[in-house]
Amino acid sequence: MIKAQRGTKDILPGDILTWQKIEKTARELFQNANYKEIRTPIFESTELFARGVGDSTDIVNKEMYTFSVGGQNKDESSITLRPENTAGVVRAYIEHGFNRLSAPVKLWYFGPMFRYERPQKGRQRQFHQIGAEMFGAESPSADAEMIALVSKFLNKIGIEGLVAEINSLGCPKCRGEYKERIKETLKPYLDRLCDDCKVRYEKNPLRMLDCKNEDCIRIFEDEEVKKVILADFICEECREHYNDVKKYLDILNIKYQENKMLVRGLDYYTKTVFEIKSSVLGSQSAVAGGGRYDGLVEMLGGEKTPAVGFALGVERLFELVEHIEQSKLDYFVVSNMQDKALETVQMLRDKGYSADFDFQNRKFSKQLEKAGKIAKRAVIIGEDEVTGGYYTVKNLETGEQTKLQKSSL
Ligand code: HAM
Repeated sequence: MIKAQRGTKDILPGDILTWQKIEKTARELFQNANYKEIRTPIFESTELFARGVGDSTDIVNKEMYTFSVGGQNKDESSITLRPENTAGVVRAYIEHGFNRLSAPVKLWYFGPMFRYERPQKGRQRQFHQIGAEMFGAESPSADAEMIALVSKFLNKIGIEGLVAEINSLGCPKCRGEYKERIKETLKPYLDRLCDDCKVRYEKNPLRMLDCKNEDCIRIFEDEEVKKVILADFICEECREHYNDVKKYLDILNIKYQENKMLVRGLDYYTKTVFEIKSSVLGSQSAVAGGGRYDGLVEMLGGEKTPAVGFALGVERLFELVEHIEQSKLDYFVVSNMQDKALETVQMLRDKGYSADFDFQNRKFSKQLEKAGKIAKRAVIIGEDEVTGGYYTVKNLETGEQTKLQKSSL
């Protein structure tokens, strides 16, 4: 038997109503906040992610589904299934000259992403994200709007009590000094760090801070090391921006916790970063993550454009929301006359009712049994009904039966 690929999941009919509710809630929320939907391709040039997400990230180094197509020169034709959608949306923003539109440009998306990760609870190789990106707004109020949107979305979908963790990674200028200080401080511990952190030490020292390896965590908890990690490194401008984000969150009554160790797994962030976590989800606790990325549009060939955004993991969200059961059909037509059944079902559907019948024309009692399982009411059409020109309608919850004229169904 051929099975679904490891780390992928079929979304089965029993779960689909919950998925649809999540999608519908997102669509309404974004429309309400003046975001327009964008649908970009599922694959892009590999270079987009290598440059956009950053070639020192785990995503680019270990987790990309990269193909070389048509046996052509790999460098010319290398494509990758999108591991996230910020880079793709930025590419589209530049390609379609969205910088000429009145700023800010507010976009949202829903769709599958692909990362070659070790599958485990909350971590799949194909998963879905709902995300939003805002281009052209430098103001900290845009950062606050993003966090407010996630928080509103979670409330609307019925998830209460999740708190946003926030941090500021500063700008490339102030962060540069901070990186150097971290490296200097961790130099004596270098051979005790895990293999991944040894690489991060060289390529992307801040990424060491959210390493899950116990030995690394122990090192970061050392008094002297901690002092450097927790030091206030950001410059005046970044500090003011961060303070304003917090001020706006307070005004909006959105709960947050500052977490100095929050560095995120993508390279493009500047200033504000945030994550929403849930303890119910175990080790893969982040439901959503995002932040500001003021350098990415320029880095990918566009004009210098401030930007901020987030993405929510739908599978993780699914674990937290109350699931919706499929509701019963309004009618099931029970008859051994296929023509009458077919015609009546059509008429009921035309009137806006959900209705079905037995295509196999099984025994009357079998059909009635099935009706009892899947419908609220049965429309019974036997010889008597045809000669008398009426329907018998049985309420399958109370057992009550009534005779109805065809026109009054
Ligand atoms: P991210 O933190 O990599 O950010 O992913 C966002 C969310 O996607 C995570 O919080 C998680 O819920 C979900 N997620 C990530 N990987 C997996 C996986 N393997 N299986 C299941 N769910 C997963 C981004 O992707 C950024 N593009 C967010 C952003 C938008 N930043 C600015 N704009």
